[in-house]
Amino acid sequence: MNRDHNTHPRNSVERELDALREQGLSRSLRTIPRAGGSFACEGRICLNFSSNDYLGFSHHPRLIEASRHALETYGTGSGASRLVTGDLPIHQDLEAALARHKGYPASLLFGSGYMTNCGVIASLCSSDWTVVADRQIHASVIDAVRLSGARLVRFHHNDPEDLARRLRKVDRPDQTLVVTESVFSMDGDLAPLPDLADCCEAIGAFFLVDEAHATGVFGPRGQGLIATHHLQSKVHFSMSTFSKALGTYGGAVACSEVMRRWMIHKARAFIYTTAPPPVTVAASLEALRLLDEDPDLGMILQAKAHRLRDRLQAGGADTLASASQIIPVLVGDNHQAVAIDRQLREQGILAVALRPPTVAPGTARLRLSVSLDHTNDQIDQVAEAVLAALRGEAG
Ligand SMILES: Cc1ncc(COP(=O)(O)O)c(C=O)c1O
Repeated sequence: MNRDHNTHPRNSVERELDALREQGLSRSLRTIPRAGGSFACEGRICLNFSSNDYLGFSHHPRLIEASRHALETYGTGSGASRLVTGDLPIHQDLEAALARHKGYPASLLFGSGYMTNCGVIASLCSSDWTVVADRQIHASVIDAVRLSGARLVRFHHNDPEDLARRLRKVDRPDQTLVVTESVFSMDGDLAPLPDLADCCEAIGAFFLVDEAHATGVFGPRGQGLIATHHLQSKVHFSMSTFSKALGTYGGAVACSEVMRRWMIHKARAFIYTTAPPPVTVAASLEALRLLDEDPDLGMILQAKAHRLRDRLQAGGADTLASASQIIPVLVGDNHQAVAIDRQLREQGILAVALRPPTVAPGTARLRLSVSLDHTNDQIDQVAEAVLAALRGEAG
């Protein structure tokens, strides 16, 4: 067998990788020294405008101290699935704190936000269910629906009328789950939650809202947009992740006691995996305490985001319908988006280009995200650099 890399026929994986490169869709890992809004790198300060560590909590001394204490108390791991011998007091404490924070009777932790969506959706739905999801819903929801075997129907982005039209066609409203994000991860726009909730209530469908990018950021004490609109009684599942504004790792769903019990029995992403490690659980618990103590953090973040969006728009950038700390800058072409990303990186600015399949074909963009770590001067500097790069000016 010929093992010479230069002459052997290229297999299907190699051919596909070649095709991705030609379309400007190659992906590679880029290593940075640490998370947060800025970091020292090669003798200068680099600005990270692509992180989800929106509140800068990943380096907060209180979170670090809470993790350290948990490490000394519990050790490095939980040792087993929650249902075997992995259930520690700190897991119960975080679930109680999150339920209280979100205004729900109960909550259940999962290993990550991705696993939360898989666990909730695949435990509730099966092949005789229909999931009706926003066109721009996160990949974890799509994967969860595939895992469940349910039929997937997509409604037009943020369009309650289209949702109502599609719901009128389902045979079994009681076996229908509607899913949206409250803050969309790629466009940074907000869902019309009250109208969507009314559509679900009108036919008796279940409603799941993914609050990955709203938790810690929107609403009083960062409770999210479900709480802002007082929709807890209409949204059956309030999904959150600790890995974004809360600066740690892990996911959770807030829900009724009955649904929590159901998922403990049925959610394979909960049952067949080791309980989350105490060090991250302790940090998440401390992050919720910080939100309670300082209820205005989200508002301060939104003011910073407003400043960046204003400056970009004033310079002619298309920031789509962003109304949050997530600010897309539309480029369109994959190769151009990557070139701008590279040019900014050379100037010490991380503003990562997102391309299909993460976003729709023809909508490659920089996805900027603002953090409390960023100063106004840094925000202005980044706006100017992005606008110059869009105009094709060398950095
Ligand atoms: C909308 C949305 N839902 C779920 C997830 C998954 O969360 P996690 O990163 O905690 O797995 C993400 C993160 O990429 C997200 O943006």
